[in-house]
Amino acid sequence: MDEERLELFLRSMDEAPLSGPLADLRREALDADVPIIRLGTCSLMRTLLMLKKPAHILEIGTAVGFSALFMLENSDADVTTIEDWPPRIAAARENFTRFGAWDRVRLLEGDATELLPGLQGPFDFIFMDAAKGQYLRYLPEVLRLMPSGAVLLADNVFLDGTVIESRFAVERRDRTIHKRMRAFLHAVTHSEDLVTTILPVGDGMTLSVRR
Ligand SMILES: C[S@@+](CC[C@H](N)C(=O)[O-])C[C@H]1O[C@@H](n2cnc3c(N)ncnc32)[C@H](O)[C@@H]1O
Repeated sequence: MDEERLELFLRSMDEAPLSGPLADLRREALDADVPIIRLGTCSLMRTLLMLKKPAHILEIGTAVGFSALFMLENSDADVTTIEDWPPRIAAARENFTRFGAWDRVRLLEGDATELLPGLQGPFDFIFMDAAKGQYLRYLPEVLRLMPSGAVLLADNVFLDGTVIESRFAVERRDRTIHKRMRAFLHAVTHSEDLVTTILPVGDGMTLSVRR
């Protein structure tokens, strides 16, 4: 099978979920080198939101608000989203204003590790997309916030493909994140609280449901 052609083919189909102002925001974010969710991720997310019909979404890692706005557009939920980098917080604020989203969005400013313990749930859909080395640390608090049937989606779990390499094949500076992501994958696939599947969508995603 020609994997490159297959990927191009799939990507061309994945452009469907985006149009209008969100497509413009995506272009602006990419032009500014802001790491936002890929089209395949948008497509999966839209389908999951339609299936789950969440009331309350939690996002860890806002960046400039693209995925939060995408989730708002594709659900009736409110979105609580966390970002700790001031320039991104400012950009997200502007974008939430520009899209008239403040009646359904709450932007929490600060480090997710510090903010999560103070949050009250429940959240029936959680999107984890912040520091990849911190996913395992977020997990206990995330589980606390998820009622039975809640969905946890985590992005970039393949670490650009390096997660499959032996730790010795990974650059020394990337070894900690590599080890931690493997531990996260092990935790979500072996958790008694979650049913998890790992999906080769975008840069790899885990999709978990709370038992
Ligand atoms: C991949 S980007 C998020 C992209 C966004 N979800 C989207 O697709 O539009 C990750 C963001 O998480 C933020 N971040 C990283 N570690 C964080 C932490 N511990 N607490 C809060 N935000 C964090 C980064 O500053 C960055 O803007």
